[in-house]
Amino acid sequence: MKFALITGLVVGSLAGLGTSSLYRRNFDSNDYYVLHLDRSANPDHIASRLGLRNEGQLGELADHYIFRAPRTDHDVVRKEVQERRRRRSLGDADILDAVKSSHKQKLRAPMQKRTIPPPPRGFFPRQKRVDEADAGALKIQKSVMKSLGISDPIFNEQWHLFNTVQLGHDVNVTGVWLSGVTGKNATVAMVDDGLDMYSNDLKPNYYAFGSWDFNDNRAEPRPTLSDDRHGTRCAGEVSAAKNDVCGLGVAYDSKIAGIRILSKQISDADEAAAMNYDYQHNQIYSCSWGPPDDGRSMDAPGILIKRAMLNGVQKGRNGLGSVYVFASGNGAQSDDNCNFDGYTNSIYSITVGAIDRQGLHPYYSEKCSAQLVVTYSSGSGDAIHTTDVGENQCYSGHGGTSAAAPLAAGIFALALEVRPDLSWRDMQYIALESAVPVDLEAGEWQPTTIGKQYSHTFGYGKIDSYALVETAKTWKNVKPQAWYYSPWLHVKKEIPQGDQGLSVNFKVTEKMLKEANLMRLEHVTVTMNVEHTQRGDLSVDLISPDNVISHISATRKLDKSDQGYDDWTFMSVVHWGESGVGTWTIVIRDTQVNDQKGTFIDWHLKLWGESIDASKATLLPMPTDEDDTDHDVTTTATPTAITTSLSPHPDATNTAVTTSLPDDHPERPVKPSKTNSDSGPSATSTQSATTETTSSSWLPSFLPTFGVSSRTQAWIYGALGLIVTFCIGLGVWLWLVRRKRLRNNPRDSYEFEPLNVDESAGLGGGHEKGTKRRGGELYDAFAGGSDDEEFNDRDHNSLVSADSDDESAEEVPTAQQGSRLLGSQT
Ligand SMILES: *[C@@H]1O[C@H](CO)[C@@H](O)[C@H](O)[C@H]1NC(C)=O
Ligand SMILES: *[C@@H]1O[C@H](CO)[C@@H](O)[C@H](O)[C@H]1NC(C)=O
Repeated sequence: MKFALITGLVVGSLAGLGTSSLYRRNFDSNDYYVLHLDRSANPDHIASRLGLRNEGQLGELADHYIFRAPRTDHDVVRKEVQERRRRRSLGDADILDAVKSSHKQKLRAPMQKRTIPPPPRGFFPRQKRVDEADAGALKIQKSVMKSLGISDPIFNEQWHLFNTVQLGHDVNVTGVWLSGVTGKNATVAMVDDGLDMYSNDLKPNYYAFGSWDFNDNRAEPRPTLSDDRHGTRCAGEVSAAKNDVCGLGVAYDSKIAGIRILSKQISDADEAAAMNYDYQHNQIYSCSWGPPDDGRSMDAPGILIKRAMLNGVQKGRNGLGSVYVFASGNGAQSDDNCNFDGYTNSIYSITVGAIDRQGLHPYYSEKCSAQLVVTYSSGSGDAIHTTDVGENQCYSGHGGTSAAAPLAAGIFALALEVRPDLSWRDMQYIALESAVPVDLEAGEWQPTTIGKQYSHTFGYGKIDSYALVETAKTWKNVKPQAWYYSPWLHVKKEIPQGDQGLSVNFKVTEKMLKEANLMRLEHVTVTMNVEHTQRGDLSVDLISPDNVISHISATRKLDKSDQGYDDWTFMSVVHWGESGVGTWTIVIRDTQVNDQKGTFIDWHLKLWGESIDASKATLLPMPTDEDDTDHDVTTTATPTAITTSLSPHPDATNTAVTTSLPDDHPERPVKPSKTNSDSGPSATSTQSATTETTSSSWLPSFLPTFGVSSRTQAWIYGALGLIVTFCIGLGVWLWLVRRKRLRNNPRDSYEFEPLNVDESAGLGGGHEKGTKRRGGELYDAFAGGSDDEEFNDRDHNSLVSADSDDESAEEVPTAQQGSRLLGSQT
């Protein structure tokens, strides 16, 4: 088995692809399931038990396999595993116990390209580019071309590389080239709608081995649809060769791969595989796409894609981490904000916005506190001039943040030429360290703790290639990542309307961070639950102990959703370099005085950064499920911090609302750790104290056991059990009806999460303390189960609550599902 796994990995990485990619998918006649299996499980045995065909590992995701079945309407895996769980109480072992989760795959619409959106009504470019070129600049340009032997016919139109009109408004790369740095030995993958490897401008640098077409299941990601031009144009910005065709890529000697995912419907499994494709060699993934920029969407990648991105930063480039570059989005005119997009607000992606050739903010480029830097793109009457589909085709109208992200990716490739040892986090440091603030009057710049300027419009500023490469040359690699998670902080207060807002806070002590091995901050994330009947009315600020403000959420006039924030995670890079110690404040505002009201339910602060002691650093465990991720990681990551946080903090009385901590409001119990790697004994006992478990036996402790076997007890209490279960089922159902929706991301599929040995080991002493619970907490509470009976309860709740595969997550359970829950208990 081990041998097979290792062989699989070796073959997989040798071939530059997961074995599953070798199979052609046919969703017309087949269903596909991604099963996450226990490491010890044999996928072939599982497959034959389920009557499915094992099609191999899912991309580079360890222990995830794609299983094929003839097409049916229902979920055959769930049915089987559910059946198995039902019988599990009888005690016999079964190979299906090794199924940790199952995701039936659905084809869904591809992500949207970030091409130039139509300008807003009544919009005129601020200034046409008709000015005379500067004579001195033209002279310099000529001499650069001569020194480097540049004869590309449109190089002189490529103002973003060398601007002879608005001096200084370019990526300042010619000095880098002159020093001999042109992207050699660096590889960028364009994750897009294809790449024309037969373009004479791209052919010399095309990296076939790292390329794949996930839309048409073939090795060559050649554009086929009339609309498949975006990826090729983006690729030209990075790696168009120095020759007699069109212009130059910013890293014109880099290698360029094409990964095609945007041209047809796709499954989460394939998108996940794409994000890790040939990740030992593809170093940078340039992604100019995402959920709709309509000012209404609030979408995050599905769990498999999230896992793939974490897998990428942990294992890509031999552990240095894949560098994911994302376009911030083009929805600014619809008030869209890149913190409502789960790709751009991921801590694993570098979010890049746009400035135009005059150094101004273009009408489309989104703001957000997750935006790291900006670079040049369309606006002020011009766009990016690059390669197009065709042997010798050029394009002069490329733009939107779609054109900014690849330019940044190409510049990062220059840095990797001089420093291939930079980690994914080093790259973020270098980007912000070397960024140059622009448009100082308009950007609402604010000083940060480390002496930088930050603007939600421009991030830390525009990329200067020369400064970035110089910074890279002498960069001292940062220590591994560490993190501190606060407990869930309960608020449950109505949000007053108007400007004043509701403020809550949480105090982080030096001790907490020391115990979390966290030296200084990089990213800060805040996960929130807010109920509101018109989400777009809300705005949220995060204020650090150093009084630096992140606008983590902003109002959106078009966002009429009544779903509020449902375990949504906002991200900020504004607090980079702060210590994190002190009081963190959230100010939530319901900006519109109207009939639309809401309640701030709870929140969860997460501080990410550089570790104090590298030898104590660990890798973040894979997220297990969209909703449970946070709870899960909390206990794993910062076990001792939870202990500390149990005492009320002294600052609580100074604030508008005192945040309640888990000991006095155990509504939101902490889910127990899934891994035993670093949870010390103190952590374990803390968890059991804060985790609600009904009993260490399946019988409530106040009931007599009659000294008979549990089988007999089962008979005696059978009827009672049924009633209890009915109540639980009803509770879940009512809660579901109320919340209507469990997930932010309708694409997400449900996971089973069997309690494993590690979990049960630490939980023997857990007893339920509180009685009040949010309905939603049933789900979590049962996760703290310490025996099979609870495990079953939890599972069945979950099965019902998330009776969905990729598209039915919003469904309210039917009566039939309710009765399934009942039946499962008998
Ligand atoms: C731009 O590059 C030149 C070298 O070509 C360098 O002297 C200058 O400092 C760079 N600009 C910035 C802001 O670093
Ligand atoms: C190119 O990169 C590979 C792997 O990153 C490295 O082993 C090799 O030495 C590099 N070659 C050059 C010329 O830098």
